[in-house]
Amino acid sequence: MQPEIKIASRDEIANLDALFQSMGLDTEGYAISKFVKATEGEKLIGAARAKVFPNCIEICSVGVLEPYRGKGIGKKMMEKLVSMFSVKPIFLVTDIPFYFHKVGFKKANHFPLELETKRNRCLQELECELAEVMLYERREKTE
Ligand SMILES: CC(C)(COP(=O)(O)OP(=O)(O)OC[C@H]1O[C@@H](n2cnc3c(N)ncnc32)[C@H](O)[C@@H]1OP(=O)(O)O)[C@@H](O)C(=O)NCCC(=O)NCCS
Repeated sequence: MQPEIKIASRDEIANLDALFQSMGLDTEGYAISKFVKATEGEKLIGAARAKVFPNCIEICSVGVLEPYRGKGIGKKMMEKLVSMFSVKPIFLVTDIPFYFHKVGFKKANHFPLELETKRNRCLQELECELAEVMLYERREKTE
């Protein structure tokens, strides 16, 4: 069965939250978030979200259940999420920059306060060893 990637509605938040929590991902700011999900049949196998701030977007909580990793599902969820925003710059903070580089993000040298706050939370509260801020480089639709 082929996994499906779709926009998730707000009444699915409880299921999405359970998935994010099971992977230790960020669970703050659902009220300002837009969600995508990956399903196989009825089963939720992955999810990701974007917090919508006044001047920027922050992608966070990108997760695919372990047995389903390495099959392009994370990449498809990222493509769906970034396609939902065409104007505001799209950032994220991560400890696996090499992964997000593959899906179109570059290290950001300048970023809004929201990302500085998230980066500090990752380093101080969550004790991440690495918290790199990255910016999505929009691709021209030539291919
Ligand atoms: C990170 C994660 C979402 C990737 O999802 P996935 O569906 O396995 O990724 P994909 O199959 O779409 O991988 C796309 C590419 O990235 C590579 N890749 C996958 N996971 C990677 C990782 N952890 N580090 C580096 N590269 C990775 C794949 O090999 C693939 O490369 P290719 O296009 O050259 O073949 C998944 O591993 C996960 O849920 N991890 C736990 C939660 C997490 O750390 N989330 C990110 C922090 S917010």
